[in-house]
Amino acid sequence: MPNRSDSDLKRQYPPTAIHTADGNINILQLTDPHLYWDTTTSTAGINNHQNFVACLNQALNEDRRCDLILLTGDLVNEVNTQIYDRIFELLQQTGIPHACIAGNHDVTDELNTHLAFEQRQFVAHTADPRLLSRHSIQLNNWELLLLDSSVPGKIYGAVGNKNLQWLRQKLANCHNPVMIAMHHHLLPMHSAWIDAHITQDASDFWALIKQFPQVKAVLSGHVHQDYESSQSGVNVYTTPSTCYQFKPNEDDFALDPDASPGYRWLTLTIEGEINSWVTRLTKPTN
Ligand SMILES: [Fe+2]
Ligand SMILES: [Fe+2]
Repeated sequence: MPNRSDSDLKRQYPPTAIHTADGNINILQLTDPHLYWDTTTSTAGINNHQNFVACLNQALNEDRRCDLILLTGDLVNEVNTQIYDRIFELLQQTGIPHACIAGNHDVTDELNTHLAFEQRQFVAHTADPRLLSRHSIQLNNWELLLLDSSVPGKIYGAVGNKNLQWLRQKLANCHNPVMIAMHHHLLPMHSAWIDAHITQDASDFWALIKQFPQVKAVLSGHVHQDYESSQSGVNVYTTPSTCYQFKPNEDDFALDPDASPGYRWLTLTIEGEINSWVTRLTKPTN
């Protein structure tokens, strides 16, 4: 890895094009770290900060070149600029191009969490300006399109008309294979409580995507679990959180104490294929 100065890396954020000699792009997706200013904070017995750092370190110590680190939302659990400063400092230290998008917790503070869900208060915030929306990155012969699906003050997501218009325009002018990333899930997880917080206009998204067969994959976070499916010929992926996990197929809120923090790798090949898998943390920290 060539040495890059801090100013080089700051200039490079966000990246707009990444090219590799072998024609393949390896993306590391980290999602839903839910970080607090206090780095000793744990959720359900899992330290949020330490497990995020451990996922990043374990992934980068694997015998694989990482070409892009992608954080797909819920970076923080309390909106505070200094937590983003800390995250971006960690990412810059890797020397690897990185890109971050917002999740619901990046634009909504949830107050009175000791009360029942319906009695809680949800406070809207503007997203940190470093979180990307309607941003594209050329990855060799691939195009990665990043969307902001967060809605300030809400837990559910929405693509929205502006994003849909941008997506239509981008796809109409692009004949390379495409992957789209956004925080909220776009297919039901068969878990009633989390599906209440799905992308509300997912049907508009799919109606548009059907018209553009170059879209090969859609990548999300939000559901804190590993899921892989397909819709209209598009691979659909969700990914475990770097901290606590939700129990799959439960209609009422439930954590999965047996599932470790994890992350996803995606290799986008020169032939236009995708290989993707989830890796769990070998030693989670309490
Ligand atoms: Fe989350
Ligand atoms: Fe979320």
